[in-house]
Amino acid sequence: MKKVLFAVAECQPFIATGGLAEVAGSLPKAIMASNTNYKVEVIMPLYRGILEKYGSKLKFLGKSQIQLAWRKLYCGLFQMAYEGVTYYFIDNKYYFDRDNIYGHYDDGERFAFFSKSVIDVLPLLKNQPDIIHTHDWHTALVNIFLDVLYKKEGKYTNIKSIFTIHNIEYQGRFGVHILEDVFGISKKYTDLLIYNGDINLVKGAIVCSDLITTVSPRYSREIALSQYACGLEYIIRLNSSKIIGIINGINIDFYNPISDQSINANFDSNTIDKRMENKKALQIGLDLEVSEDICTISIISRLASHKGIDLILDKFHEIMLDNVQVIILGKGDYYYEQRFLEMARFYPKRVSTLITYDIDLSKQIYSGSDLFLMPSKMEPCGLSQMIASRYGCVPIVRATGGLYDTIKDYSEIDGNGFVFKDYDSAQMLSKINEAVNVFSKKEEFKKLVKRAMEVDFSWGRSSKEYIAKYNELLKKQGV
Ligand code: GLC
Repeated sequence: MKKVLFAVAECQPFIATGGLAEVAGSLPKAIMASNTNYKVEVIMPLYRGILEKYGSKLKFLGKSQIQLAWRKLYCGLFQMAYEGVTYYFIDNKYYFDRDNIYGHYDDGERFAFFSKSVIDVLPLLKNQPDIIHTHDWHTALVNIFLDVLYKKEGKYTNIKSIFTIHNIEYQGRFGVHILEDVFGISKKYTDLLIYNGDINLVKGAIVCSDLITTVSPRYSREIALSQYACGLEYIIRLNSSKIIGIINGINIDFYNPISDQSINANFDSNTIDKRMENKKALQIGLDLEVSEDICTISIISRLASHKGIDLILDKFHEIMLDNVQVIILGKGDYYYEQRFLEMARFYPKRVSTLITYDIDLSKQIYSGSDLFLMPSKMEPCGLSQMIASRYGCVPIVRATGGLYDTIKDYSEIDGNGFVFKDYDSAQMLSKINEAVNVFSKKEEFKKLVKRAMEVDFSWGRSSKEYIAKYNELLKKQGV
């Protein structure tokens, strides 16, 4: 039996702010389902929100004292099994008993503590990992510590490390003083972690890990280019031989229109007409004009610039010239939130803006709207275009990252959406116009909805790709 330990800052169902939690919450199960020779467990911080919701179900496994530079810190270890996966939680009230999981002045120190704990609690675990698989900058230090503080000292030399980049924009950058004072890493290793004058954790993990993955093949090529790499292109090119892209899947049981309890009418690709009941409920619920013939376009997204929000705002009034209504669901930059609220006031009965993160509501929107707009400037993978497609809400996307890998244009035989090439609002608008036009041809549009719903976005193939990579790594050292 081969053992993999995922270390991650957020994970469904315990705590989530975005796609990272969805992947961490579904990939371990998928890997074990496709190969019973693998056991995948997950370790994460015990945030206040988790303690409140799951406190009574947690089992205390033990405690440890963590040395982080000059600090000696308490670390409790808890465990809980959920849907066949074992989860471990690192407890320290000072760092994790807070309202939000990110955005604190000492995030560098908090995740350094978590990362150090991941390695130092290993003796308390029943299953010793053959591989530690970490995700994004918050856990990059696990791979760095493992290499610099342990392997170089002859400890844990058998453990392989993998780092997955979910979004290269977030790099964990800090002033140089943090290296010795907080991370407890000797200055002699500065070269490993420094990049453009800062300590850069993603750079450090790229150098220190045995394998780097990103969440789509296209994105793994894009991040070698300056317009996508947010400054890291040089280090990506230098390490390209150990970087691969594996497309994310979605949890097709959780996102299943035929059994989903949170939507009005259940349907599958043979009962597409039932979507109209969802559309009607949505229109009534959101105080939009009730009509089957108006094309309902939805946007479910973090309201951040890399999601292409500027393109949407740039052409908003022109989009509204068509017979459409628009639903916006998401939180993010204050400026964008206010602009979309303004649009809802400007177009009563035609635009609905919901500034919140709500999974049930998102499923109602996917199941009742006709088109899904996602014109991202950068999109490492993107999950919502796949969820939309599964719910028969046809995606309009820009050809970047995972959007390029998952959505094919209507003009192709197996087209499951509408795709435009450049980050350009005129191109986006003309794709929207084309899509709305196809929508008006009822039978043609129905065929497209059916094709979109029938694409396989499960983890099936991708979990096998991860396993193949794990096997390769372990074979190299004869485990
Ligand atoms: C990040 C990326 C998104 C990806 C998700 C899960 O949130 O921005 O594209 O789908 O991680 O990997």
